[in-house]
Amino acid sequence: FTIHTQTVSESCPSNIALIKYWGKYENQIPANPSISYTLNHCKTNTSMEFLADESFSVQTFLAGNEEVKFAEKIEKYFKNIEQYLPWVLKGKYIIRTENTFPHSSGIASSASGFGAIAKCLMKLDEAFSGKGSEEESLRKASFLARLGSGSACRSLYNGLVVWGTSEEVEGSSDLFAVKYPDAEIHDIFKNFNDWVLLIHEGQKSVSSTVGHGLMNTNPYAERRFQEARENFVPMKEILKNGDMERFIKLVEHEALTLHAMMMMSDPAFILMKTGTMEVINKIWDFRKETGLPLFFTLDAGANVHLLFPNDPSEEKIKIFIETELLQHTQKNGVVKDVMRF
Ligand code: PMV
Repeated sequence: FTIHTQTVSESCPSNIALIKYWGKYENQIPANPSISYTLNHCKTNTSMEFLADESFSVQTFLAGNEEVKFAEKIEKYFKNIEQYLPWVLKGKYIIRTENTFPHSSGIASSASGFGAIAKCLMKLDEAFSGKGSEEESLRKASFLARLGSGSACRSLYNGLVVWGTSEEVEGSSDLFAVKYPDAEIHDIFKNFNDWVLLIHEGQKSVSSTVGHGLMNTNPYAERRFQEARENFVPMKEILKNGDMERFIKLVEHEALTLHAMMMMSDPAFILMKTGTMEVINKIWDFRKETGLPLFFTLDAGANVHLLFPNDPSEEKIKIFIETELLQHTQKNGVVKDVMRF
């Protein structure tokens, strides 16, 4: 070991799934493949200071030097990945992290957070073990990020990203994510809008770890896993030919299915709020009236991601969001904040 201290910094975006991952097996193996959009405007910036030492410890800080409580989680994670990074427990760490999006906004900060940590670890690994190819290093970062938070492995690449073995996507794997091939993507999907309406702040009533676990006893789980695998067939066609109508139908179905699975768990739980329903109904009314391509997806929470293409319909959709949708829902407190990206 020649290097005693080393500080590295990395930045990693969050992502939102279009075909959802919900349910997993041992060692973070997903029960079905998923595909996501990387959210370039929602990033975690992380710096990691490593001090070679006999004893292993982790301290974590938020920007502004506030000590935060995820050191224990990171320690556990590092112990878990030692088999893939033999040096990882041989020192002390000081990890500083900040998000470019509001704290506890419900945007998956575990995806960007673990993505950034995995990238930092790969940078340290290069300093200790020498530089491998860029491609290999990204793949290993994705592999390591998966072991922190499953969906984090999709954050290592831009644009559309697939995690989980699918017959429809060459090179896809349960162990790491791969970029969806550019040549197979219609221009309309290359630069999409995703605005987030913050409907509920703070802790979720059921964590995603518990939620995934409840799929083990959900009587609908197998059918759902099969459905997600099957949904890659139309998704592939849609991404290629730009069929917006089918895209909207599929993406909204996936979001509602995720939440339906929660309702059919035992014990049942509901992460949507009345505000979530209000926004969904307003989107549907707007689409019925105008035929314009505004639609939604949901994460494991109450917030609504508004999706709409970057095309001539964009201005009209933005006007609708800013006036009819937001004026009412922000005034009555249903929408707490809006992240326009
Ligand atoms: O990465 P996790 O374990 O927090 O799971 C998140 C799963 C969803 O965000 C609900 C769906 C997905 O595919 O990202």
